[in-house]
Amino acid sequence: MKKTTIQNIKDFKNSPSPFATLTAYDFCSAQILDAAGIPLILVGDSASMTIYGYDTTVPVSMNEMLLVVKAVTRGVKQSLVVADMPFLSYQPSVEETIKNAGILMKEGGANAVKLEGGQHVASNIKALVKAGIPVLGHVGLMPQSVNQTSGYKIQGKTDESAAQILKDAKAVESSGAFGIVLECIPEALATQITKTISIPTIGIGSGDTCDGQIQVFHDIIGLTKNKPPKHAKQYADLYTTILNVVNKYQIDIKKS
Ligand code: KIV
Repeated sequence: MKKTTIQNIKDFKNSPSPFATLTAYDFCSAQILDAAGIPLILVGDSASMTIYGYDTTVPVSMNEMLLVVKAVTRGVKQSLVVADMPFLSYQPSVEETIKNAGILMKEGGANAVKLEGGQHVASNIKALVKAGIPVLGHVGLMPQSVNQTSGYKIQGKTDESAAQILKDAKAVESSGAFGIVLECIPEALATQITKTISIPTIGIGSGDTCDGQIQVFHDIIGLTKNKPPKHAKQYADLYTTILNVVNKYQIDIKKS
């Protein structure tokens, strides 16, 4: 099997059906997603909650992200691995952006990075692309800004905010990103962006019309105690399955 390239992801723009992508944070799940032929694996900063148990994506550090990126890239042969840049690893300056993206690629083995933002991070994206670092953009709901936005709300509901998100998506495209995540925006806006820009859109909580979809792995397999967000279809209840296995194991040991 050949390694997925950035061009392969860009080619999904012309695909008749949407492509499926997922997050992963460890060696075993990365091996499973790779075996399933998932073309793009995101080592999301959602690792902050799923792996490290923080409440939001704000606290996770570069070192914590680097550990999970390394684990995932060791498990992957075929999928393109995109590493999320954690909060304040790119916002302070273009120099910091390149340095930290370089660490995720050179030490972590990632093939690309993702960062949140539109027009205000255009110079960061341009500098990364110029340095040879492929970038996946992310607009709409941006969880790293949860303190500023006062919670996780659907974005782009007013004409003014929808127009800004469209401008942001165009800025990400013209800065050289190879794709863009559209998180929690109305389907009509996601459709408009998908039709307007030439790079693939990857939706989460933004309806069914994007070129691709992404979900958090733990949500679709039901691994966490918490209820997954409304937009995540839960295909299994592994929390309960594993709890039952551990209980049966305990009973067996106590009996012997
Ligand atoms: O961190 C993450 O998991 C993400 C996806 C939800 C897009 O950014």
